[in-house]
Order: sequence, then C-alpha cells, then structure tokens
Amino acid sequence: MDRDLQFIQEARNLLHAAHEAYLKFRNFAEEQVERHLARVNDRFGCAEKDQSVLTDLHKINLLSCSGNPSGELMGELVKILEKRDVAPGSSTAVEVRGQKVAVFNVDGTFYAIGDTCTHRAGPLSEGEVSGTTVTCPWHRAQYDLKTGGVLTPPAPESVASYKVVVEGDAVSIEL
Ligand code: FES
Repeated sequence: MDRDLQFIQEARNLLHAAHEAYLKFRNFAEEQVERHLARVNDRFGCAEKDQSVLTDLHKINLLSCSGNPSGELMGELVKILEKRDVAPGSSTAVEVRGQKVAVFNVDGTFYAIGDTCTHRAGPLSEGEVSGTTVTCPWHRAQYDLKTGGVLTPPAPESVASYKVVVEGDAVSIEL
C-alpha cells in the first residue's frame, strides 16, 4: 500500500513538472509569435488581421523552439552594412529582403528597427534620436530603439526590432 502511495506521489510530481515546463514553453512560443508578427506587420501592415499568418507563424516558432534548446530564436544573420557607413550619432535606412530597416549608431552601439512609422509611414531613419529614443520626423511619435516599442502617440503600434550583430567591420541583423 505504501509503495502505491509513493508511486502516486511520484506521478503527481512528474505531472506537476511537466505542466510547469509546458507553461514556460507556451509563454516563450507566444513571445516569438509576437516578434514575428511585428516584423510581418512592418512589411505588410495587416498581419494581425490574418489568422492564417498567425497559425503558420505559430507552427514555425514551435519548430524553432524545439530545434533550439537554448531558448533563443536562431534567425539567419544578414550583413546590412559596414560600421563606417553609419557614424556615431547618425542613422540610415537599408532594404533587406523587401523589409525597410532603420539602422542607428548610438555612441558606437547599433540598433535596427522597422523604418516605417505605424502612423502614416514616416521614415524613422530620418528621425531625431535622443538616447535610445527616436522621434518620427512627420508627426513626432516616439519609438524605443532597443525594442521597436512605441512610446508616444500618434503611432498606434510598435515596429519590428532586429537583433544586431557586429563582427569586425560588418554589421548584420538577424532575420
Ligand atoms: S508618420 Fe510617424 S507620427 Fe505620423
């Protein structure tokens, strides 16, 4: 009888651990889907209304998660420019696989976000930068360069944010 109780307790513990792992995995997958949606949104402007895109992205993310035990989404690194192309305190826009990307050099640190303001498509690469905040040149919405998050209206949504990798002179982003 004691052994049966012990067995049941062990089964409960295992179930509990499995449930915890499931919740962590689900949260991670949802975050990754949100990131992809922001990128697709930046390109097409309507991803959140398209349930099939969400479903497909969800599948892709689940595959990414399962193939990468570190928990980090591993995208493809694409070189976008050389360090000397964007001096400290300046910014530029590049087009990568149909996506307009604004690249900023803030005191030697590079940031890359979607170039197209979600309000009326103002070019964020031409915006004024203060710290890690960029102000849209058209109607002054502000975005966080670290996350692409919108900080002040009238922009209704965030723009995509890209991981930047600098190796030697090459500046690359993860797609
Ligand atoms: S276009 Fe950027 S705030 Fe209007």
